[in-house]
Amino acid sequence: MAKLWYLGHSTFYLEGEGLKALIDPFLTGNPWGIAKPEDFTDLNYIFVTHGHGDHLGDAVEIAKRTGATIVSIFEVAQYCQFKGANVHAMHIGGTYNFPFGRVKLVPAAHGSSVIEGDRVVTLGSPCGIIVEVEGKNVYHAGDTGLIADMELLGKYENIYVALLPIGGNFTMDIRDAAIAAELIKPALAIPMHFKTWPIIDAEPEDFKSLAEARGVNVQILNPGDELEF
Ligand code: NI
Ligand code: MN
Repeated sequence: MAKLWYLGHSTFYLEGEGLKALIDPFLTGNPWGIAKPEDFTDLNYIFVTHGHGDHLGDAVEIAKRTGATIVSIFEVAQYCQFKGANVHAMHIGGTYNFPFGRVKLVPAAHGSSVIEGDRVVTLGSPCGIIVEVEGKNVYHAGDTGLIADMELLGKYENIYVALLPIGGNFTMDIRDAAIAAELIKPALAIPMHFKTWPIIDAEPEDFKSLAEARGVNVQILNPGDELEF
């Protein structure tokens, strides 16, 4: 069995055969307060969808302390390597077979940057990440608007769990996320990136209704909940 643990916002712990990973490890300053960086001592991978602070989060510190490899888009990986982390750089459309399974980076419509002093430093394209764990594909959409590329995921990528932002303003809202779910055709869609701050105050139950009307099975994880699959 693989295990997915929701840490609030877009942060997940994913575990399965050969894999102990965090995805978008925003722990310090995460208003949900489910876990702290130091709670993670035994990790082998950290997946990062883009450079924004609520996604890159504590990736560098955790990677340096645990020896975990940061897997991300080339520019984010390079940035993390300069900060002292082990990295595996990939890019949009690229697939790599890791010992635990296949990873593919896919498009996301968003930005990617970090703040260095009073400067905004752009770090290439944002991405979504498909991680194969125990033969099942977990798609973490990162931050993204609704894009036609998602139809390709539904046709060709056999997504088992789709983690989709629903909060609006910076990403898809519940309506667009429900359309995304219809395009991606996962066995299970799980909403994320909602209610962390007032500006993304979307109701996951409303997303569930809209997505289920489009024929997609939805499970709402409350921050701190775990799913086995
Ligand atoms: Ni973002
Ligand atoms: Mn975000």
